[in-house]
Parts: sequence; C-alpha cells; structure tokens
Amino acid sequence: MTAKLILGKEVSEEIYGELRQRIEALKARGVTPGLAVVLVGEDPASQVYVRKKGEMCEELGMKSLTVLMPEETTQEELLSKVAELNADPSIHGFLVQLPLPDHIDEEAVINAIDPSKDVDCFHPSNVGRMLIGNPDFLPATPAGVQQMLVRSGVDTAGKHVVVVGRSNIVGKPMAAMMVQKGAGADSTVTIVHSRTPNLAEMTRSADILIVAIGKPRFVTADMVKDGAVVIDVGTNRVADPTHPKGSRLVGDVDFEAVKEKASYITPVPGGVGPMTICMLMANAVRAAERVVE
Ligand code: GUN
Repeated sequence: MTAKLILGKEVSEEIYGELRQRIEALKARGVTPGLAVVLVGEDPASQVYVRKKGEMCEELGMKSLTVLMPEETTQEELLSKVAELNADPSIHGFLVQLPLPDHIDEEAVINAIDPSKDVDCFHPSNVGRMLIGNPDFLPATPAGVQQMLVRSGVDTAGKHVVVVGRSNIVGKPMAAMMVQKGAGADSTVTIVHSRTPNLAEMTRSADILIVAIGKPRFVTADMVKDGAVVIDVGTNRVADPTHPKGSRLVGDVDFEAVKEKASYITPVPGGVGPMTICMLMANAVRAAERVVE
C-alpha cells in the first residue's frame, strides 16, 4: 500500500476560506480581529515564525502587531508589555514567542497573559479547560492535527491513537484532545516517550500514530502497523551537502519507508507545518468573535 498524503497546505486553505468569511462578518460589525506577537531576542527560527504570523494576518485582513524586544529585555519590561497588550482593546489575542532568553521566567510570562487573549492556549486556565472538555481555545499544533484527521475523513472514534512525545506544546494536549467526547476524538489514547521500554510494540498497535518527539526519522517502518494513519509533527534540520542550503528539514518519521505501509501520511515539509499558523489565526478570530457575542 502507498499512503495517501494529507497536505497541510490544502487543509489550511479550506480553513482560511472559512476564516475569511468570519473576518468579513466581524468587520461588518465594526470589529477587525487583532493579533499581536511578541518576540524577545533574535533567534533566527523564531524570527521566521513571527514574520510568517504577521504576513498571514495581513493577508487575511486582520490587524497585526509585531513587538520586537531586545535580548536584554528584563522580565519586568516583558511583563509590562504583556499588561499593555492585555489592556489593548484592538488586540483580541496575542502570544509571546518561545523560547525566551534564559534570564526570563517563561511560566511567569505565560501566567500573566489574560486567558481570554491567550491564543496559544498555554495559560494553565486554558490548558485546564481543554482537559475538562470545555475549551475556550485549542492549542494550535494539536488542533491542526485534529483538523487534518477530520477533514481527510479519518474516523477516530474508538481507534487506538498513540502519541509519541510528551511535550506541553504537542504531546500532552494532543492526547488530551483525542480522548475527549465528540467528533474528531473519542479515541483510546496512549502516550509513549523516551522512557517507554516497549515503545515499538506500542506504536505497532496504533491505528493513528502521531509523532512529536523531535528526533529525525525516529519512527521506522517496523514500528508502524499496516494501514495506520501516520501524522508527523517533527521538523528537524539535518545536514545534507547535496542541498543548496547544506541542510534540509526531515520529520520524526522515516517517510520514504513508512509511506509504503501507512494508509495516510503527512510529509515534512508540507504536512502539519502550515496548520499551526492557520489554527493560531482561527483562535484570534474566535477571540474577536467573543467580543461581539
Ligand atoms: N515556539 C515554538 N512554537 C511556538 C508556539 O506555538 N507558540 C509560541 N508562543 N512559541 C512557540
């Protein structure tokens, strides 16, 4: 079997179409959704993400504010910027790009964000709401994965979902979402991680395998059941002298081998990647809609 590809560009285009209509409806009521992104320091990968988020806002006709702060910004200065954005009525949602410089306490910054503007869904109150099945926002990357499954017609109810990786940004919220009651969920969920002894045995029992462990080509074909749906959240830059840049992106899954076994698979790049910004935009639109509700 050669797997069908689930492409983030196609799925996100469908969602952007829906978002454009919701943005038009908001504008007709005098509200332009506003998203701010705060970047502290000059991490090159973060600069790319932040630029892309701003560009997508502009493309959708939303208000975009990019706040660039120097590496030596103090925690107090950053907290005062967060307070300013919390109070700004033209900004419906905002996020502080992670990672932050070492001298800043990430948790204190996340806790200071008004939960009703926390479009990353990183605030403990939003994480808790998601866990009890009454979410205000869903975290962007797991929500993107769920949309890829739903919009590709993958039935998740009663299926064994194995999540590889236990990060707060992907693994843990992904598992929490798939175990909820309702469409696109209702799954039986297992999380495996670097300390799981029989990891390959567990992944082989997955109907739907979601991999976010941050190790290039970690999941090999022998770890995948015939006909499984494989979602690769990994983006690892590896050296490749044949590539013009000297490096290229690979996922956490050995794509070439696994695609011969899976029923559906997401490539890297072009798979989950475009979904994260898309779902972030969806959260920003949601935050603005709540203001007029
Ligand atoms: N760094 C990597 N991914 C993310 C994300 O989704 N949100 C924020 N704020 N920082 C990140």
